[in-house]
Amino acid sequence: MTNIAIIGTGSISTAHIEAYLAMHETCKIVALADIYPKKAESIVRKYNLEARVVANYQELLNDSTIDAVSICSPPYTHAPIAIDFIKAGKHVLVEKPMASSLKECDEMIKASIESQKLLSVVAQNRFLTPIMRLKHVLDQNLIGKVAHAQVDSFWWRGHSYYDLWWRGTWEKEGGGCTLNHAVHHIDMLQWMLGLPTDIFAATTNALHDNAEVEDLSVAVLRYGNGSLAQVTSSVVHHGEEQQLIFQGEKARISVPWKVAAQVSKENGFPQEKNNVDLENRIQKVFNQYPELRFEGHTGQVNNFLKAINDGEQLLIDGTEGRKTLELITAIYKSANLGVNVKLPLLTDDPFYTREGMLANVKHFYEKQGSIENFSDDTITVGGNYE
Ligand SMILES: NC(=O)c1ccc[n+]([C@@H]2O[C@H](COP(=O)([O-])OP(=O)(O)OC[C@H]3O[C@@H](n4cnc5c(N)ncnc54)[C@H](O)[C@@H]3O)[C@@H](O)[C@H]2O)c1
Repeated sequence: MTNIAIIGTGSISTAHIEAYLAMHETCKIVALADIYPKKAESIVRKYNLEARVVANYQELLNDSTIDAVSICSPPYTHAPIAIDFIKAGKHVLVEKPMASSLKECDEMIKASIESQKLLSVVAQNRFLTPIMRLKHVLDQNLIGKVAHAQVDSFWWRGHSYYDLWWRGTWEKEGGGCTLNHAVHHIDMLQWMLGLPTDIFAATTNALHDNAEVEDLSVAVLRYGNGSLAQVTSSVVHHGEEQQLIFQGEKARISVPWKVAAQVSKENGFPQEKNNVDLENRIQKVFNQYPELRFEGHTGQVNNFLKAINDGEQLLIDGTEGRKTLELITAIYKSANLGVNVKLPLLTDDPFYTREGMLANVKHFYEKQGSIENFSDDTITVGGNYE
């Protein structure tokens, strides 16, 4: 039995709690921490948990009954809390974004190696059947060289979204929609296509004048083989039509799922009829990949518990989480300095540290007013890509 503590009991914590409860044969939630302990107490009541509640997570560090923790607190707390628990001998599953800087990521990874404790970063969308199938098709190399990837990380959030005390600030949220919303799609992109060599980006804040951070960004990524990707990160898109499209030499594939394979006439124009044989072959490979038994956070928690108990490989460990943060940091560097950014970002780069980021990023607006808690903290977590 793996004993779990939940740190931060706001909106996303229920996804973790429900995932652990679905795995009740192998784990038990034994403690919750929140700086507003009343929130943790109401979670205990809601889920009928037998768990202790504390206001300061540090009270749990020396609790030898705890084996692992889920960190569901705001971004600026992720690195210090994760490092404290790893050093105290607990496995850590930390919500996205992994941390507020690459330096913090490196310190988390170092602590995990030294303590030999697992570190996993939430990217629950990888654990969705259509996403796994898309990745499977890409891995079979059926579409040929990928020339272009289009990533539409389209979300919509009303003005009041950024009124919550920690949101909309560089210091506490760590960034805007590129970091906190598009992180999901940027993670999938880097998982499927690897890291680019160059990035050029622009950010703006079009509709949220209560936030320091961007609510819209557009980035162009260049890969070593000459391919390009474009990533749009947004919380101003009504309808939240999120998609990833890969245009290969022989076919295009995407989530939501669609396959098309055009063929050339003698003069280079497309034939009227597509390559139906190839389309069918790709469709078959897509369908062959089995439906996942556990999806989203439940899928990731299942992977985390199996890694702890059976030595299963973590799909998203610290190194994977860091890659996504490196890409996002490069987008911020490019947009704020107006330069083409080459990867990797080195340790002497001003954007490597949290302090360097804070000194170099533009405040679109100053945050005025902030509320402690919304009365309704239920949330949605994006597309299902069906
Ligand atoms: N994976 C996803 O799809 C997804 C969705 C939403 C949020 N998130 C991430 O989850 C994290 C939390 O977001 P949320 O929307 O649940 O925010 P929230 O504000 O609703 O919840 C955060 C909770 O952490 C508590 N907290 C703050 N500082 C703390 C500390 N030092 N120790 C213990 N508790 C502390 C707050 O009181 C609050 O109850 C963020 O990193 C966010 O980016 C992930």
